Amino acid sequence: IGGRARLFGEVELHVHLDGAIKPETILYFGKKRGIPLLGDTVEDLLEHISYSEPLTLTQFLEKFALYMPAIAGDRDAVRRIAYEFVEMKAKEGVIYVEVRYSPHLLANCKVHPIPWDQEDFLPAGRLTPDEVVHLVNQDYRMEKGISTSKARSISMLHLLFFPGWSLEVVELCKKYQNNTVVAIDLAGDELVSETFPEHRKAYEEAERCGIHRTVHAGEVGPPSVIKEAINVLKTERIGHGYHVLKDPALYRELLSKKMHFETCPWSSILTGACDPDFRKHPIIQFRKDKANYSLNTDDPLIFNSSIETDYKIAKQSLDFTEKEFKRVNINAAQSSFLPEKEKKKLLSELYEAYKMVPNNPS
Ligand SMILES: *[C@@H]1O[C@H](CO)[C@@H](O)[C@H](O)[C@H]1NC(C)=O
Ligand SMILES: *[C@@H]1O[C@H](CO)[C@@H](O)[C@H](O)[C@H]1NC(C)=O
Ligand SMILES: *[C@@H]1O[C@H](CO)[C@@H](O)[C@H](O)[C@H]1NC(C)=O
Ligand SMILES: [Zn+2]
Repeated sequence: IGGRARLFGEVELHVHLDGAIKPETILYFGKKRGIPLLGDTVEDLLEHISYSEPLTLTQFLEKFALYMPAIAGDRDAVRRIAYEFVEMKAKEGVIYVEVRYSPHLLANCKVHPIPWDQEDFLPAGRLTPDEVVHLVNQDYRMEKGISTSKARSISMLHLLFFPGWSLEVVELCKKYQNNTVVAIDLAGDELVSETFPEHRKAYEEAERCGIHRTVHAGEVGPPSVIKEAINVLKTERIGHGYHVLKDPALYRELLSKKMHFETCPWSSILTGACDPDFRKHPIIQFRKDKANYSLNTDDPLIFNSSIETDYKIAKQSLDFTEKEFKRVNINAAQSSFLPEKEKKKLLSELYEAYKMVPNNPS
């Protein structure tokens, strides 16, 4: 790794499409659609949208409302953010990424209620959640950036928003299964939410149809949320999961089950999930215990960051060695939601990039 904190050949499993938009793109569509924004230069806009001192998860979630009206409901905007996302990840050296988003939060038609007060600005009725998924998929398919073989998407439910959307989301996962959509996710403010029966039903249906499952849990919420994600929602990975350490028995159980934790170092500080003193960071415990986890950006627009930010933190503040960076990325690839054949291919690419001989060639 030498002077730089990256490997060139990273695998990223936890990043939100709507939290990874270029500020230039927000400005462009805001202007084009006549939607007021809090700034008209990149600097001004970032001044409001991004931040670098911890806020609560609820305050963090409020940031999305500052720019999503400029993007949601616009066909060209949705295509462009998908395309630019893949391009950005390719530039960062990411060789495989799973990106998540809520189709409903990018739509303004056949979605009730219409998100982001779009009706205040525009006549509704342009873009349905189904078409959002279709557009995002299409732009992964362009032979640019990481290209279709290297990006997959996860359709997402939001706890904070409307449980009525849940079954529609799982139906979209089914419709676009094998067409880049690989999984379902659940996100929101764990402290003010409960698992609605609709969410449970959506996850049951996902399991029944072979759609993979991940859940944001134990980010700010207690270990009981992680237990629920595992026992009720049958999740295969945990988004964040830092607070598992508050329940040593659960932690030991998940270590022995090799549960994958999608960790996001910089995000974990800025959302108030973890103590800003990195010496006490849960990832240090995960590293020592050789847990199954990955390093991810989460929402690089809002955190004004890139994968390099998180790798730098890992290197400088979490004592990562090159060996651990490699181990973490290999575990990420193994925990990805790719079909077995493609997963093997990705792993062999990683071994090659890392100049490693797989110790377990199967
Ligand atoms: C965002 O990060 C860049 C460096 O990567 C820095 O120059 C800029 O000032 C930051 N902007 C804000 C608003 O924090
Ligand atoms: C996707 O692939 C799986 C496994 O090959 C198959 O069981 C499933 O029916 C496919 N789904 C669709 C919508 O084609
Ligand atoms: C992480 O999970 C994947 C998928 O189950 C598995 O292949 C891998 O060995 C696990 N890694 C660790 C360190 O437990
Ligand atoms: Zn997240």
